[in-house]
Amino acid sequence: MTQHLTVADFANLFGIKPEEMPKACLDMIAKGNWAYAPYPQVERDHIILDFLRRIRDRQFSFVTEGDKDRWIKGWGENLEGFKKSGDLDALTPKYIRPNMPVRLFGDFVKTEDPFFEKHWYAIFREWLLLTYVKGFDHIFEFGCGSGFNVARMAELYPKATVHGLDWAEPSVEIVENLRATKGLNVHGHQFDFFNPDYSLEVPPNSVVVTIGALEQTGDKNAAFMEFLMKKRPALIVHVEPTYDWYDPNSLVDHLAITAHELRNFWRGWHERLNGLQKQGKVEILKTKRAYFGSLVLEGFSQTIWRPL
Ligand SMILES: C[S@@+](CC[C@H](N)C(=O)[O-])C[C@H]1O[C@@H](n2cnc3c(N)ncnc32)[C@H](O)[C@@H]1O
Repeated sequence: MTQHLTVADFANLFGIKPEEMPKACLDMIAKGNWAYAPYPQVERDHIILDFLRRIRDRQFSFVTEGDKDRWIKGWGENLEGFKKSGDLDALTPKYIRPNMPVRLFGDFVKTEDPFFEKHWYAIFREWLLLTYVKGFDHIFEFGCGSGFNVARMAELYPKATVHGLDWAEPSVEIVENLRATKGLNVHGHQFDFFNPDYSLEVPPNSVVVTIGALEQTGDKNAAFMEFLMKKRPALIVHVEPTYDWYDPNSLVDHLAITAHELRNFWRGWHERLNGLQKQGKVEILKTKRAYFGSLVLEGFSQTIWRPL
């Protein structure tokens, strides 16, 4: 039976009331095709069997400390495309594939729009940036990748200084190019989560954003948390797959848990953060499981907090 994501569903997935949805996002929702349906059993079995085969054959890219070559290659391609065309669209990461099953409300669903996830994410990102990045003088995106979030934040908040940080050199070059060619108030810096650069200045009224970036740190993210506790930004916003919030009793979640482990995605962050909150050192303002994602996992769970 075909269903459609409504404004109320978007609000539920973002963790807000429908009346809090910004006008810009309502307009974007109105333009999309949000039709989806459960998979017929045979197709669903096929998806799950294929997933299990990938698990058995270890067919997942995985995080190893120091392995930045694939990022240099990927963002290098975006950099070349951007230099050639001068078009911000050239910064869209290439890893979003069409016609893939989508995770929605804890199950796999089939969507009419082949780019359902990409279009959903565009609305989610706009909402996130309009809601949590507003009113800050300095914006830092750590693990900024192709720079497409950096560019959007600089467009939305021209008075703010936007810093894009990544360990991959082409990312830094893209951000620097954005300033030179588009006149955006952005600055690129090289930065490694495993060895944070304490010479980086984080002025008062700064917000820190990570989007699908800390996921890449495995269990080696204590150094970056320590860095944040020292630098004390006013707000920290993570959009990351969150291991702790899957339901181990659900088959679909179990697959995500296994993929998360095989890929060596980040773990341990929430345990430490909860510990710091108990000690009165941080305030956790929002935690929201995504209940939306790709075939492999839910990449858009929100954790919003601040050092006290
Ligand atoms: C999945 S991409 C996400 C990029 C971007 N935030 C986005 O939303 O498209 C992960 C990013 O984290 C960066 N990264 C991975 N390990 C890192 C590390 N140790 N230090 C800094 N950046 C890292 C990668 O270079 C890549 O740009």
